Amino acid sequence: MKEQTIETLKKYSQEHLIEYLPYLTEEEQKKLEQQVEAIDFEQLQQLYELAKQEQYMEEKNISHIPYVDKEKLDKQKREELETIGRKIISDGKYAVITMAGGQGTRLGHQGPKGTYCLDTINGPKYLFEITVDTLKRAREEYNVTIPWYIMTSRENHQDTIRFFEEKKYFGYSKSKVKFFTQGELPLISTEGKVILGEDKKIKEAANGNGGIYEAIAISGVLKELQEQQSDWIFINSMDNVLCNFVDPLLLGLTIEQNYKIASKSVAKATPKERAGVFCKMNEKPKVIEYTELPDKMAEERDKNGELVYGELHIMLNLFHCSILEDLANVKLPYHVAFKKSGYLNEKCEYIEPEEPNVYKFEAFIFDAFTRYDDMTILRVKREEEFAPVKNRTGVDSPETATALYNKYYC
Ligand code: UTP
Repeated sequence: MKEQTIETLKKYSQEHLIEYLPYLTEEEQKKLEQQVEAIDFEQLQQLYELAKQEQYMEEKNISHIPYVDKEKLDKQKREELETIGRKIISDGKYAVITMAGGQGTRLGHQGPKGTYCLDTINGPKYLFEITVDTLKRAREEYNVTIPWYIMTSRENHQDTIRFFEEKKYFGYSKSKVKFFTQGELPLISTEGKVILGEDKKIKEAANGNGGIYEAIAISGVLKELQEQQSDWIFINSMDNVLCNFVDPLLLGLTIEQNYKIASKSVAKATPKERAGVFCKMNEKPKVIEYTELPDKMAEERDKNGELVYGELHIMLNLFHCSILEDLANVKLPYHVAFKKSGYLNEKCEYIEPEEPNVYKFEAFIFDAFTRYDDMTILRVKREEEFAPVKNRTGVDSPETATALYNKYYC
């Protein structure tokens, strides 16, 4: 290892890596060295400090955020807004980015989460295929092939592409589908040390769905969107099997309200539902985690009996292309998760821990909302647009998502 690399390791208290060198082949040593050189240890040190601190919300100037309820729009207004949105789509000024870089740990499926298959009334359906079905329906309805970008992680990139090749893109135009990879950050132990995985490399993991803004800039996707004049970009996740991401109403409403960001929401099922809700904090739009929302606020109702903080963020986000460049340069805050991760001990033996042992750092896509004064929020019906696959069993599982899918398509 180069003297300078060793110095870096010492400076950031990572010299334990040197102890592994005798167990590594020359090739592995070289790869490790390259990895060390690419890691921003200064940033990692700051993240470690963050992980050790107790997480609390610095400012709590929270207030209600206005939203539009789709059900309460009269027919004429709805049609008016949809006409505006339809024109954008059929003029080819619309693109979709699907975030598929997550690890899907709760589902525990081998391989990219989008390759998980549900047994539906329309036959076996992979999660990715359900997204393609929506794109194909839009192709028929608007007579355009919407460009589709899929964000992967380094971990699942090759497997994702292989899957699409194998399935022949489920009949969508291959030339309109592009894959790009998001950034990563090292996992660190409770002592602030990076760890080695079975492959003798420093273990890194995708830096959260908030990594999307930087990733679209670095990968050239943003440039392509600008060149092909995709004015509006919908960013969704692939694990909501009722995800309606080609929605002229949302587009029309956002344009009418003259905002550059929009999201769909569903009403909270109960005040205690474990999901983030929209609010305003210091007058800016924000999604606040259920863990951060004081109980009293979670239960608060307005004069119509509606929860004041009752609009769930469901990962259905629309952006005007013009703001994505700005967002690519923004440093979003990182959130810390404590996770289980296998590692090599000092004798280079692989250990699979029973309990969480590492900090993982993730940025969230919705933390970018606070950069803007306002945004459109369209409340939609849960049974029509929200059926996520998150857990292996129980709530938000393949079973519940399939039941909701079947009910909808019936
Ligand atoms: P989740 O936060 O639900 O994570 O992602 P997940 O990876 O699907 O599942 P768990 O938490 O490990 O069980 C919501 C969406 O954001 C994407 C996911 O692929 C999913 O579409 N995502 C998440 C990324 O693209 N990158 C990330 O780093 C994290």
